[in-house]
Amino acid sequence: MYHLTLLAVVALIGGCRAADGDVNICSDVVSNLFLPHVSNCSKYYLCMSEVAVPRECPAGYYFDARDQQCVPVMEARCVPSCKTRGLESFCYDRTCTKYVLCFDGTPVIRQCSNRLQYNGQTDRCDFPQYVDCVDNMCIRENNPNDIVFIASKARCDKYFICNDGLPNVMTCAKGLQYNPSTQSCDFASKVNCTVETLQRNILPFARAPPRSADIKCPSEGAHFIAHQKRQDAYYYCLNGQGVTLDCTPGLVFDAKSGECRESQFVGV
Ligand SMILES: *[C@@H]1O[C@H](CO)[C@@H](O)[C@H](O)[C@H]1NC(C)=O
Ligand SMILES: *[C@@H]1O[C@H](CO)[C@@H](O)[C@H](O)[C@H]1NC(C)=O
Repeated sequence: MYHLTLLAVVALIGGCRAADGDVNICSDVVSNLFLPHVSNCSKYYLCMSEVAVPRECPAGYYFDARDQQCVPVMEARCVPSCKTRGLESFCYDRTCTKYVLCFDGTPVIRQCSNRLQYNGQTDRCDFPQYVDCVDNMCIRENNPNDIVFIASKARCDKYFICNDGLPNVMTCAKGLQYNPSTQSCDFASKVNCTVETLQRNILPFARAPPRSADIKCPSEGAHFIAHQKRQDAYYYCLNGQGVTLDCTPGLVFDAKSGECRESQFVGV
């Protein structure tokens, strides 16, 4: 089984020491979907039964995750690279659950667990109803006999149909709701859809002033460490430098996975 480890990514970019844990980039990704490589746009992966198979574009071509294929270099939308200073994060295209966390130029691949998805607006793992990403489920090959319908996690009257590798948003007629069991719009009483959302005000990591960690960070490697006082925050230490990061409201930091999770999954 091929795992893209944090070690591999960190080593590839900065020659730094290893980070804890590893991330299978193809977990929660449908078979036959292609994923970009985080630091080299000529490389990409084919996900098959949640295993990443490395691929390479021919000379003059780069992989474009949206198009799901190699395209001429000038046209390719590559995964962004980390700025040399500061803290930022961006979506690992097409995975919905993974993201790239950059700290002073060094990227690490991170993974949201237990149905949480990466929210590019708030720069952190979030409840699926606030993200509603389905990019991990649409492959480029259309099978007219097996159209892929996907229920929205954010709204009862919304669903998606995959077309040429991209999810197209569909809306039911007024008063109807999407029924996953019949793959059609239906009377609300037959669907029983419930979606809970609240108004929230969350500042993205990139826009919030960085806060240094109030602990002494290990001098080498990447570490995600529980906050001394708060359950809903943690420290990210990279080679002795540390920042304090917040979980999405409603989540708590889980030291075992090194990520924010719903409290019932902590330590599992
Ligand atoms: C990207 O990968 C290709 C193919 O393995 C390699 O030839 C090229 O040097 C790599 N580019 C960078 C910037 O590492
Ligand atoms: C909808 O929910 C109600 C109350 O929870 C339940 O009695 C009913 O069987 C559900 N209907 C369907 C179609 O699931």
